[in-house]
Order: sequence, then C-alpha cells, then structure tokens
Amino acid sequence: MKLSLFGATGPTGKYIIEEAFKQGYSLSVYTRNARKVDAFAGKVDVVVGDLHDTAAIAKCVRGADAVISALGPNSLKVQGDRPVMQGLSNIISVMRQMGVHRLIQISTAAYRDPRDGFALGAHAFVLLFRVIVPRAYEDIKATGELIASSGLDWTLVRIPNLKDDPANGNIDVGWYGRSKLSMKLSRGNLAKFLVDQVTDKTFVRAAPGIANR
Ligand SMILES: NC(=O)c1ccc[n+]([C@@H]2O[C@H](COP(=O)([O-])OP(=O)(O)OC[C@H]3O[C@@H](n4cnc5c(N)ncnc54)[C@H](OP(=O)(O)O)[C@@H]3O)[C@@H](O)[C@H]2O)c1
Repeated sequence: MKLSLFGATGPTGKYIIEEAFKQGYSLSVYTRNARKVDAFAGKVDVVVGDLHDTAAIAKCVRGADAVISALGPNSLKVQGDRPVMQGLSNIISVMRQMGVHRLIQISTAAYRDPRDGFALGAHAFVLLFRVIVPRAYEDIKATGELIASSGLDWTLVRIPNLKDDPANGNIDVGWYGRSKLSMKLSRGNLAKFLVDQVTDKTFVRAAPGIANR
C-alpha cells in the first residue's frame, strides 16, 4: 500500500516516514525543498513542488491509498492568505480527480469538533495562540473547516504541544472538555496514530484530540 505525505519536512516528518516504513507502506513525499528529505533519498519517492502546483501534487497523490498531511503554518512567518488552507484545497481537488478518498490531517483545538465540551486549558491555549499568531490560527481553523466539508473520508488529528520523543503507546484520545487530555504529545505517538488511521475507520469524519497519558 502507498501513502502520499505532505508537510514531512518539519521535525514530525521523520517520525511519520519511519512509522509508515514500519507498517509496510511505500511513500511518496511532497516537498518544496528536496534537500530537507535527503536522509530518505532512495527509500521514498520525492515530488518537488509548491502547494499551487496541481500537476506535481497529482504526481504525488496518484496511486495512493491515503494522504497524510502534517502541513501547518510556519507560525511567525505566514505568507499570504491562509496558505495551508489554499494548499489543502488543491490537494483535495486532486484527490477527488484521482479517486483517493482518505485524508488524515494534523490540526489543533483551533478547530472545534461538534462532540467537544468546554475545556478551560485547551480554550486558554487557543485564545493565546490566536492573539500571538492570528494568521496561523486562522489558517489552521480554515483548513479544518475546509477538510470537514470536503466529502472525503477525512480525519483531523488535533494535537497539543509536541515533544521530540519516540512512541510509547501511552496516549489518550477523545474530545476537548469531555475527555482527559494533557497538553503534551510525543512526535512518535503522533506519527503512530496518524499512520494507524489509514486503515482504522473509527475516526472517519471526526476530529479526535490526542495527547500523552
Ligand atoms: N510544534 C508543536 O508543538 C505543534 C503544536 C501544534 C500543532 N503543530 C502542527 O503539527 C505539525 C507538525 O509540526 P512540526 O513542528 O513537526 O513541523 P513544522 O515545522 O510546523 O512543519 C510544517 C510543515 O508544513 C510545511 N509548510 C508550512 N507552510 C507551507 C507552505 N506555505 N507551503 C508548503 N509547505 C508548507 C513545512 O514545509 P517547509 O519545511 O518547506 O517549510 C513543513 O513541512 C504542523 O502542522 C504544525 O502546525 C505543531
């Protein structure tokens, strides 16, 4: 089975790639700078392009069983109007053309799931984020809303602060304000949850929060 991966050049990317290998997937990785995935040269197909280049996006998505996206605004230097949301709009239209239905995207509490209650911690975190980096907040929220109305088999995996630790399987999954969710998550645990969603249909068309236990 093949996965198409976007946004893998950040620190979470290598965990996702390694987890996908571990689960036996082949990978097509999309990047605007091939040097950032040099460590995986020869092991993954690398497709170079920006998020406006639908021909290059199609090359990456063609033949994939699912798309995983770790795309997120580079907080302090968001250029243009909601660039990640615009990029996802192009990815979604390519997925529709190619008949690829499964989309798994990293998100945060900036996007609300209808199952959420009121969670003081998550609410305060989102408010602070909104005040400090309003353009990043708007991009994450709009990306979530776009994906939720896409008609695809989507999952938004909502996360708190990330830390650079391997997977240990100790996570809580649920809804803000209704489930116990801490404010930290290991990148290894995130990568495993993302790749598990390819075949696990529990959270299709839902936006679970996940966090380290
Ligand atoms: N770090 C945290 O504590 C935290 C907390 C909450 C949510 N998140 C989210 O978790 C995900 C992974 O985070 P991370 O810290 O591992 O990595 P990151 O550095 O935030 O990775 C962002 C990825 O998105 C890509 N990207 C951003 N804007 C883009 C644009 N306009 N066009 C094309 N690509 C673009 C980056 O590509 P380039 O390398 O080319 O810039 C990179 O691959 C991100 O979605 C992030 O927003 C992180």
